[in-house]
Amino acid sequence: MPPAENKQGAGFQAPTGEIEVSMRPSRMSRSAACLMACLASVGTSAATGQQVYATCAACHGARAEGNPGLGAPALAGQQVAYLQRQLLNFRTGLRGSHKDDTYGAQMRAASQVALPDEKAIAAVATYIAALPRTDVKPAGKFDARNGNNLYQGKCGAGHGGQAEGNEALSAPRLAGLDAAYIKRQHRNFGKGLRGAQPQDRYGKQMALMATTLGSERELDDVIGYIQAFEAAR
Ligand code: HEC
Repeated sequence: MPPAENKQGAGFQAPTGEIEVSMRPSRMSRSAACLMACLASVGTSAATGQQVYATCAACHGARAEGNPGLGAPALAGQQVAYLQRQLLNFRTGLRGSHKDDTYGAQMRAASQVALPDEKAIAAVATYIAALPRTDVKPAGKFDARNGNNLYQGKCGAGHGGQAEGNEALSAPRLAGLDAAYIKRQHRNFGKGLRGAQPQDRYGKQMALMATTLGSERELDDVIGYIQAFEAAR
């Protein structure tokens, strides 16, 4: 990609070069040139994480706070390695390619459009991981005691005593994620929509664990408990 030339107003100049109109085209050309430069840089490995993230914000929010209405989870403050692995998994189809995984398919498509190579993935993951964590709307009623027992008994060893994640075990942070997203992922692991492919080493571990929570009720209690950490933070 050649460096963008500074063609002031080129292509936007009104045919009649009146002063009044030529003021507007030069303003337009500046923003148009910026837009073009931004898009061009997203298409190359030279894009900064912030530039790449501009294409993600429509779904994940300007602060990477997530948008439950779109099924897009919060990302801010998640581990770099986890983010990178998930983005690669989406790109290669280890995640988001099961025919029933409609939300995963949306993210898979987004990753193919917006992430041209591993450099772009690394840049955007580093940018997102450094963003300040955002708050989540806590779940409704849940049995805190049951949630505590289940979480600490079955999940805490992997995801950390306060759901903060454990990078050494490649287990992501869960605090700060919305309830519907955690639930869907748990279900996806349990039903073979995620983590079922042999090359998905870490996904397979979680798929095994997902079978250990019995009922929907248990899952609600665990999610409520996880979200209480976030609220108390
Ligand atoms: C069209 C909307 C959309 C766009 C654009 C989009 N995403 Fe997503 N993203 C989603 C949805 C929906 C999910 C949830 C997928 C699922 O349920 O498995 C998701 C999931 C993710 C996850 C998995 C998080 C986790 O906790 O496992 C990451 C990481 C992610 N997106 C990063 C990005 C990045 C980086 C970009 C920009 C390059 C981006 N997304 C653009 C909709 C989008």
